[in-house]
Amino acid sequence: MTDNALAGARVLLGVGGGIAAYKAADLVRRLRDAGAEVRVVMTANATRFVSALTFQALSGHAVRDSLWDESAEAAMGHIELARWASQVLVAPATVDIIARLAQGRADDLLATLCLATGAPVAIAPAMNQQMWAHPATQANLATLRQRGVRVFGPDSGGQACGEFGAGRLMEPHSLVAALAATQAPGDLAGWSVLVSAGPTYEDIDPVRFIGNRSSGRMGFAVAAAAAARGADVTLVAGPVALATPAGVRRIDVRGARQMHEAVLGLAGASDVYVAAAAVGDFRPDQVAPRKLKKASDATTLELRLVQNPDILADMAALTGRPFLVGFAAETERVEAHARDKLERKRLDLVAANEVGPGRGFEAEDNALLLLWPGGREALPRAGKRELAEALLDRIVQLRQGRQDGNPA
Ligand code: PMT
Repeated sequence: MTDNALAGARVLLGVGGGIAAYKAADLVRRLRDAGAEVRVVMTANATRFVSALTFQALSGHAVRDSLWDESAEAAMGHIELARWASQVLVAPATVDIIARLAQGRADDLLATLCLATGAPVAIAPAMNQQMWAHPATQANLATLRQRGVRVFGPDSGGQACGEFGAGRLMEPHSLVAALAATQAPGDLAGWSVLVSAGPTYEDIDPVRFIGNRSSGRMGFAVAAAAAARGADVTLVAGPVALATPAGVRRIDVRGARQMHEAVLGLAGASDVYVAAAAVGDFRPDQVAPRKLKKASDATTLELRLVQNPDILADMAALTGRPFLVGFAAETERVEAHARDKLERKRLDLVAANEVGPGRGFEAEDNALLLLWPGGREALPRAGKRELAEALLDRIVQLRQGRQDGNPA
């Protein structure tokens, strides 16, 4: 790491209330040595371990620990502070802070700032090893990771409570290096990546629609990973209940035709299009203006469906089209059907997955088979974020090969 690895960075350091708070004092000094400007916010419990004066002396700025400090608000209000930061680092992040961040609470200054900032947020957990291993903690961390929060550490070893295991705060010099690595331009810097995710809803009448089981998780994971690696990412999302990943521009749509319009409208501005959405192939040919009534003698209802536009096929037909990555959701003969889609839709890469209740759709994990002209790679079952990273690695390699004039 160079001496000035954090030159120009404005680091908002959130100090949580754990014994490791004493190491945060050294962290402030090292962040400043690396060129960062540092402002410190402490939780009320953190002030029981280390005095605010210590952090004030080391950072060169007044320390804040309350939302209700009138003079501090008059100097730099909490929203200004949230805007000022180019990076938020919570160290040590206690089990309580992690739970509050996962829930999106704003019950103290630090939690509020983490919600109000547009800057990337990183946390460095520190806690007893049992608390670290607890499923509640791990579920909260999974939620935060899904939202693009980076998790540094923890280290393993002897703990202040006398136990041994994972849960020690990463050493300050390693935290500075980890933060500096996130500031370096990612391997997708300069790329414009367009991702579609989630289902489409095809309306039948004002209360009913035809939809599917897609939760949007796979596509959101691709968008989050691409943004974290430096790409300029636009996410066209069908109706899903997911938070927008950090640094991602989001366009919400409902039906396939709306998704088609949004995606095609961005084709010229995109280097890569990843079509992870589960687009409805058909829609009712008419949307009833009023709720359809059940006729008293009717035992069946006929709906006439018409085909939706094929977004990927229309993208493939464009001259100067982006690098096209389709997904293939199959219930049987996965590889054969996916290879057929690759060739028929003239794609650059297909990510095939087997789908069914709890498989592919909805679940937190997945397994993908990547197919491209002349190649294949099986990605075993893993979290969707991990798979998204591996998919992006393959896209980087195939695009690079194409630019070098080599077939993959
Ligand atoms: O959202 P999750 O719960 O995380 O689940 C993830 C997923 C299973 C939805 C995802 O991994 C996936 O497989 N997405 C594609 C689902 C799908 O519609 O597959 P398909 O085989 O029917 O379509 C093939 C490709 O054509 C897809 O890239 C699709 O986006 C695209 N398509 C399909 C129809 C259409 N009218 N226009 C399209 O562009």
